[in-house]
Amino acid sequence: MANHISEKEEQEKKKSMAAGASISIIFSLENEVGALAEGLRIFTKYKCNLVHIESRSSMRLPGYEFMVEIDTKSGDVDSALNEIRKNATYFQIITRDYKDTADTLPWFPVNIKDLDKFANQILSYGSELDSDHPGFTDQVYRARRKEFADIAFNYKHGTPIPTVEYTDVEKKTWGTVYNKLKSLYKTHACYEHNHVFPLLEENCGYSPDNIPQLQTVSDFLKSVTGFTLRPVAGLLSSRDFLAGLAFRVFHSTQYIRHHTKPNYTPEPDVCHELLGHVPLFADPAFAQFSQEIGLASLGASDEYIQKLATCYWFTVEFGICRQNGELKAYGAGLLSSFGELEWCLSDGPELRAFEPAKTGVTEYPITQHQPLYFVTESFEDAKQKMIDFAATIPRPFGVRYDPYTQSIQLLDSKYQIQKLITNINCEIRTLIDAFSKF
Ligand SMILES: [Fe+2]
Repeated sequence: MANHISEKEEQEKKKSMAAGASISIIFSLENEVGALAEGLRIFTKYKCNLVHIESRSSMRLPGYEFMVEIDTKSGDVDSALNEIRKNATYFQIITRDYKDTADTLPWFPVNIKDLDKFANQILSYGSELDSDHPGFTDQVYRARRKEFADIAFNYKHGTPIPTVEYTDVEKKTWGTVYNKLKSLYKTHACYEHNHVFPLLEENCGYSPDNIPQLQTVSDFLKSVTGFTLRPVAGLLSSRDFLAGLAFRVFHSTQYIRHHTKPNYTPEPDVCHELLGHVPLFADPAFAQFSQEIGLASLGASDEYIQKLATCYWFTVEFGICRQNGELKAYGAGLLSSFGELEWCLSDGPELRAFEPAKTGVTEYPITQHQPLYFVTESFEDAKQKMIDFAATIPRPFGVRYDPYTQSIQLLDSKYQIQKLITNINCEIRTLIDAFSKF
């Protein structure tokens, strides 16, 4: 049984090929044994260069599915795709990696439910560990990582995030990290983090001997700023990850680092998310700042996605702010790393003022403490700077998030803008009326 490629996918493929970029597809073939070899034979036959190959057990059909990225500058890609499609039990073009041309814009989600569409287009599955990962040779840990990846892979918007029974070993690792970091928060974390942390202890079960459940934390965030958590199976592209923020959705891991190295993790884990990110997403100004980065990313070119992802890195991950004349950490990468939390406020690193246009083109290392941090005066100030920067991104429309429908409004016609002005006018009247009563 061959799947039909939709007209929209066909157009997307043509755009990609015309722009000379790459195409990514997911497919399954009928014969499970030797299916990958059969797929590769087809690409070899048409002399196609493959940039990336990945296999994983299929959640759609019994057996395996393959994700392949093809360089469109080599071979007869069209014929190869046609032949794969004819033989496939499942076939989907997932590429969005085409260079921007005057008449094309990268796809982006417009409704919160659309986040389901790219949630499984991960760059690597969460259970695939590099050889230098502390858990690389630990089969128990790897199997556990797969359990977490499968939960996220099957997650759909609007359903509860499954509860996880953490093991004693996992809870001990959490406790070690928790106690060590908490001892530094009073002196090193920003006001907002210290303000929210006790609320998380009271409402979400934050304690040294309990790893809070993502759903509990997500419910709490929703009640204070409208942010929610969504489990993620592996590494998302910057474009997809930032798009989530536009809907106030944060893609969160659920697994914990390897127990042999509680002070180190080569990737985000539940300690990083819950201790570093979550307290800040409970702050209204910070939540709005994060959403602005997400909104700016929708439909932006690859060049601007890169700049926004770099701004995200230097703020949400590694940001420092000035409060009452003192420097404090607010970035999750700092607030979840004992060593870097001390380093960032020492005399060692260089400090510069946060300016999105400059920050967004600054290079940074990812495997060592940052040699340079950007400082914001306040989240309100950072938000305004992000809004100003977003206005410089070439896009033929403005965007606005409608919290009632949880969708993105594209402002690209006089009628839509008029409607928005009428709504704002109503709100201003309500404010003037309330103000006049004082
Ligand atoms: Fe992070």
